[in-house]
Amino acid sequence: MRAAYYDRQGPAEEVLCVAELPLPQPGPGEVRIRVHVSGLNPTDLKARTGFSSLMVFPRIVPHQDGAGVIDAVGDLEEAGRIGQRVWIYEAQCGRANGTAAEFVVVPSGQAVPLPEGVSFEVGASLGIPALTAHRCLFADGDIRGLKVLVQGGAGVVGTAAILLAKWAGAWVAATVMNPAQAIIARAAGADLVLDRLSDDVAEAISAHTQGEGVDRIVDVDVRKNLEIDLASLAPGGVISSYATTDAGDELSLPLLRAMIHGCVLRFVYIYSVPKDAKNEAIKDISACLVSGCYKPHFGLKTKLENIADAHRALETGAVMGKVLINV
Ligand SMILES: NC(=O)c1ccc[n+]([C@@H]2O[C@H](COP(=O)([O-])OP(=O)(O)OC[C@H]3O[C@@H](n4cnc5c(N)ncnc54)[C@H](OP(=O)(O)O)[C@@H]3O)[C@@H](O)[C@H]2O)c1
Repeated sequence: MRAAYYDRQGPAEEVLCVAELPLPQPGPGEVRIRVHVSGLNPTDLKARTGFSSLMVFPRIVPHQDGAGVIDAVGDLEEAGRIGQRVWIYEAQCGRANGTAAEFVVVPSGQAVPLPEGVSFEVGASLGIPALTAHRCLFADGDIRGLKVLVQGGAGVVGTAAILLAKWAGAWVAATVMNPAQAIIARAAGADLVLDRLSDDVAEAISAHTQGEGVDRIVDVDVRKNLEIDLASLAPGGVISSYATTDAGDELSLPLLRAMIHGCVLRFVYIYSVPKDAKNEAIKDISACLVSGCYKPHFGLKTKLENIADAHRALETGAVMGKVLINV
């Protein structure tokens, strides 16, 4: 099969190769998928550079997310799944081979049926962004009728959070950093879009919530945004933080203010989200897909041969929106 891979960690253009590799065979409990689209995430960059961990396999076929069609199964009872369209998550988690290849083998449960009419491109955009956004939004209960603030609403996870929160029946405000990002957040369905750099976010939130504040905040940079978060959050509300930045990951907290506020500070890391929570998320994501509400913003679609360029584009911030590779 045609596949992208690296044998050592380092810069994309130095370590990523595309060549023929042996076709993987599914074992018990596994299915093989003919990959149509591979989804790239920051975690794939961090694995390739060595930021997150050293290489535990001599050769890595990158990318956790993707979508395609099941073409072989490890268990006879699963034979009925052959031909099923699926989206894939955590393909390369604890495994050497991810979705940047014509075929990938994953545990059967990590190949989730893709509802009819939903494209492989949307399918390959789900995985990490949708599961992370879901955990941030729903870990503390249903959000129907609640008010949500998404800090970083034009980001890939931020957009997923807006889409899922709107599907779930919440009122959603989002912050962005420039007018182009505002268009993306609005297209995702945000009821109120604020510029994080020029608007008084807390004041605007207060004005739109009759002074109550929001119940949930999904935050891309809680270190920078904590002040705004505490000023925008309703008493007892939840701030879900899912990202660190290069500036460091130590968080300083005004303890007394946080206690008086009664807020919950939740941290989300997709690989440690409990299996049950992921299964609940998959149910909700499937329902959201069926409703036709899940429309991510695509930033770049390219070919497998251009995988190094795709990695560079995401790494340098040259692209806004989901980066996809048509396999
Ligand atoms: N914990 C987890 O399990 C998990 C899961 C998925 C992703 N992540 C991490 O989350 C981060 C974002 O991922 P992504 O794929 O969504 O990236 P992305 O598409 O680049 O989105 C980040 C967005 O946040 C904006 N932003 C940056 N600082 C902000 C601030 N202080 N307030 C409001 N908005 C701000 C960015 O704007 P500019 O481009 O203008 O800076 C950008 O629009 C990455 O570091 C990734 O590794 C973690």
